Amino acid sequence: MIIKSSIYNCCIIELNKVHNRSGNLTAIEGKLDIPFDVNRLYYLYDVPGGAERGGHAHKELQQLIVAASGCFDVVLDDGKNRKVVELNRPYYGLFVVPGIWRELINFSSGAICLVLASEKYDSGDYIRDYEEYLIFRNENSSHI
Ligand code: TYD
Repeated sequence: MIIKSSIYNCCIIELNKVHNRSGNLTAIEGKLDIPFDVNRLYYLYDVPGGAERGGHAHKELQQLIVAASGCFDVVLDDGKNRKVVELNRPYYGLFVVPGIWRELINFSSGAICLVLASEKYDSGDYIRDYEEYLIFRNENSSHI
């Protein structure tokens, strides 16, 4: 596999918002509003103050991360560059390309982190050790 992804390939996608006096609605269609087909959706909630989630990279998976409620920060790291993206609106999604290390921190009380994923759950797609991740990046970036 050849990795060409960097944190600069990750971007905020502004989602549609159907405004109504009785509330707003955002709809997301795979391959239309976001670059991939959605095969799985999961959400994090009841995250205790100070807790950190993520702490891994995916080899193939693409994701859209949305603060469906509240706010939190996503730290993106490609082994060379690092940036922090604050998510605090339900109509902004962070598109994360494969091969990026991510950490989710600073969850507000009651925050809900909604994740749309391009693949079904596969533990083999995870890299959970940062040193291993750096080796993976070095091995797979040599063809760029
Ligand atoms: P994990 O991906 O480590 O969560 P996070 O990165 O948000 O901290 O997943 C935590 C646990 O949940 C782990 O045992 C695997 C399980 N899990 C599933 O069974 N299905 C899923 O779709 C996901 C994302 C996790």
